[in-house]
Amino acid sequence: MFNDHSMLRYLTAGESHGEAIIGVLEGAPAQLPLTSDDINEHLARRWLGYGRGGRSKIENDKVHIYSGVRFGETLGSPISFRIDNGAYEKDKAGWPEKMAIEGDPPEDMETVTMPRPGHADLAGKQKYEHDDMRPVIDRSSARETAMRVACCSVARRLLNEFGIEVGSHVVRIGDVGFDAPEEWADRRNALIEKGSDGASALYETADQSATRMIDDEMTERCVEHIDQTKKDRDSLGGVYEVVVTGVPPGLGSYVHWDRRLDGQLVQAICSIQAQKAAEVGDGFRNAHRPGSQVHDPIEPREDGAQAYPRRTNHAGGTEGGTTTGMPLVVRGYMKPIPTLIKPLDSVDTATGEPEPTRYERSDITSVPAASTVAEATVAYTVANAFLRKYGGDSVPAIRRHIEADGHGSE
Ligand SMILES: Cc1cc2nc3c(=O)[nH]c(=O)nc-3n(C[C@H](O)[C@H](O)[C@H](O)COP(=O)(O)O)c2cc1C
Repeated sequence: MFNDHSMLRYLTAGESHGEAIIGVLEGAPAQLPLTSDDINEHLARRWLGYGRGGRSKIENDKVHIYSGVRFGETLGSPISFRIDNGAYEKDKAGWPEKMAIEGDPPEDMETVTMPRPGHADLAGKQKYEHDDMRPVIDRSSARETAMRVACCSVARRLLNEFGIEVGSHVVRIGDVGFDAPEEWADRRNALIEKGSDGASALYETADQSATRMIDDEMTERCVEHIDQTKKDRDSLGGVYEVVVTGVPPGLGSYVHWDRRLDGQLVQAICSIQAQKAAEVGDGFRNAHRPGSQVHDPIEPREDGAQAYPRRTNHAGGTEGGTTTGMPLVVRGYMKPIPTLIKPLDSVDTATGEPEPTRYERSDITSVPAASTVAEATVAYTVANAFLRKYGGDSVPAIRRHIEADGHGSE
């Protein structure tokens, strides 16, 4: 995932039931403290959430770093990673044979010819001309997000080094949740303004909830809703919010379309499987309101402060595609999980005949997990904008650039 303005770039490779997923991150500055634990913490958080399926019991994601780090610090060279797929051997489904890199398929191997609505199955089969949809299922799977979280955790570690924190919480799962930002904004703001942890305090609190919500009563209602949905053999989507604190003004730009940070943030969310909409600030709600209730009044700044405070933050921390110094707020909208226990109508592409879908192990909802992946992709996006403004080959060089910028001056 990179564009013409990326300072950091990463690639992922790997199939969901292959041996492992691989990633390479290029562009991380030297002398950034980095350990496997910095990454493993967020890999574990990706498994959070009530309503997860059987795979959560098989996987124990731990990253193996192969290069780019020495004695706990980055070297400035590409950082390469591997995360093993527990399902490859633990599943007892014969994946080593079915996903073999060389040789012929096992004689008794069933090919997948029935596309599941809502998955990449049919589109991928038609695009790559596979008779067997297994390769489509395996690469379009959100298993890939484990490696994204790994690569993007380095970006998050870099932001943390400069006091920029990223967090998230879930605001809705299916029918149960908050409707309007003002219903949760005070509680969220109290968390991110408390102490020096900024938005990290938000994720730490949300992680305590079975549904990653910052409201106990809502968590309970959501758990019941998920239980009922499972009984109904159905699935759920939802809404979550990612917040970034400590962001200096001036990241991103209005001067060219692809340098607008608001546009990049929406892409960061919608690049994740099953995320079908995103809004910056109160984007959707603002469209229904008069301007006097939307645009955030500017207040005088204190001596030495970098940003002018705003009385409200309906804009979500950007104006003109550029950060204002207020927290960045981005919300993601996830569709319901497409694999249902209840069959959906489909067609067997081998025979051309109508056929109901067959159930494969799956989550009832993955909104809490998606919110942690969204933290990662947002961190990566903000880190790129940060490096574009203050970037250097090493962490000390970046510090010098920030100091030279003379915070607070016009
Ligand atoms: C963290 C996460 C976990 C997911 N888990 C499942 C799952 O267990 N079962 C499923 O059918 N889809 C799951 N999905 C959604 C599918 O990966 C996605 O809908 C599918 O790849 C098609 O892509 P699209 O929805 O973007 O068109 C998950 C998505 C995310 C982000």
